[in-house]
Amino acid sequence: MTDLVPVSTAVPVSAVDPLSAADPLSTLVPLSAAALVTEQATTLSAPRRRHGLLARILFITMDVAYGKQGTLSKFKVLELVARVPYQAWEQVAYVALTHKHQMPDFARRVFEFVREARAQQDNEQWHLLIMQELVHQRGIREGFFRFRILPQLLAFTYYHISWMLYVLRPSLSYGLNADFEDHAEHEYMNYVATHPELAEQKWETAFAEDYGPHETLADVFRQIGVDERHHKEQSIAHMAKPRFQ
Ligand SMILES: [Fe+2]
Ligand SMILES: [Fe+2]
Repeated sequence: MTDLVPVSTAVPVSAVDPLSAADPLSTLVPLSAAALVTEQATTLSAPRRRHGLLARILFITMDVAYGKQGTLSKFKVLELVARVPYQAWEQVAYVALTHKHQMPDFARRVFEFVREARAQQDNEQWHLLIMQELVHQRGIREGFFRFRILPQLLAFTYYHISWMLYVLRPSLSYGLNADFEDHAEHEYMNYVATHPELAEQKWETAFAEDYGPHETLADVFRQIGVDERHHKEQSIAHMAKPRFQ
């Protein structure tokens, strides 16, 4: 894991050029509490993307299974599924490296792509662990089928759709992920807006050093929302590029 950038040097995400956001470390920049409030307002005033059919099917499935409202348990499922496209792309890239390793320039580009996918997976991993920690701290009971079996089925299906779309046409896979990340960004920022008590709740965590020094739960959720926007912007930037660039 890389070192985190101090809050004082953090760059507001809205100031980041989506194309330069290809820097895999950019998703790990924690913002100050004041900057996070500004970024939340930016998300809430922005329209959602026009989500494609596959994304809409996924969101409806999740609403039916876990309810329309955001909850900690539902966010945990969201994060389990969110890592999957990055895993799928990384896997496709390694297969490409196996076949094309004799071409150094191409191989380097593929490896840079792998690094970015891996950094995003790591970022999603912290989101998942943070949600799991909150669910555990609050003693929330979760049913075995809805929270163990079904998330794995969703992740399995989404993984295979992601790599197949990527092999077929990368922009389709990136577009699906951009929809997913856009949805996640808005869900997290809305959750903070509809739960003002989060601003009073201190973040008691084992992941402060890994994820960033945030004081309240409102800050953590806003930061996760900003991360999701980064992921969306990275996917949108990739949509216009050929495979592995
Ligand atoms: Fe996430
Ligand atoms: Fe994400």
